Amino acid sequence: MAYKHFEFIEKHAWSLGIATAIMVSLGGLAEITPLFIEANKLQPTADMKPYDPLRLAGRDVYVREGCYLCHTQMVRTLRFETQRYGAYSTASESAYDRPHQWGSKRTGPDLARVGGKYSDDWQRVHLLDPREVVPESNMPAYRWLALSLVDGQDLQARMRVLRTLGDPYTDEDIRNAPKAVAGRTELDALVAYLQGLGVDNVPKPAAAASAASSAGGKS
Ligand code: HEC
Repeated sequence: MAYKHFEFIEKHAWSLGIATAIMVSLGGLAEITPLFIEANKLQPTADMKPYDPLRLAGRDVYVREGCYLCHTQMVRTLRFETQRYGAYSTASESAYDRPHQWGSKRTGPDLARVGGKYSDDWQRVHLLDPREVVPESNMPAYRWLALSLVDGQDLQARMRVLRTLGDPYTDEDIRNAPKAVAGRTELDALVAYLQGLGVDNVPKPAAAASAASSAGGKS
């Protein structure tokens, strides 16, 4: 009986096409469905706060300028990664990142733990002209960031959208946002954002913390 079915399929290309499509879809669903279910479970931990206005603005600059094309923000669980960068990344630390900036291309180093590694001044000089501080760097210079101010009204709209997605911004947070970024340039915002990476919003699950300490912590 089963043999007859196979024979039919083998002799009729269209039925082989349909059978293949069904099998590929089932395989695809088996791969994709768990990811959707896990995504809903991804909640920020209690000690995490949404980005403050300046850092939120900095994050937008980071996305706009395409920093993710050369930098990842995801420390993998491998020993040489945790030795170089610090505790490996967990999914929930990106709960307030929409979209997340994990990336996959490392022309430059991973930035998930770069907060506090350098001074604000170093970050500013480096962004304006990387070769000033790292002569062999091939990172582009982002001189224009010092010339434009953060738009507080635009930021309020963004915070409102994020609130509808579940970020716990209060009315007061949103009302005060323009004041918080008044007179600040995009460079200020980006530096503030970078200085928070790996410092703010990093839940310390026991596993990640012990992996980091056994690997010597932040290097
Ligand atoms: C063309 C690839 C490229 C792009 C685009 C790029 N970078 Fe870099 N970045 C590098 C390279 C290479 C290095 C290592 C050399 C250096 O420090 O300049 C680096 C280093 C850094 C460092 C220092 C990291 C450390 O641990 O020493 C920071 C911070 C940084 N980049 C931030 C940014 C930001 C923010 C942007 C977007 C505005 C950006 N980069 C865009 C290539 C890039």
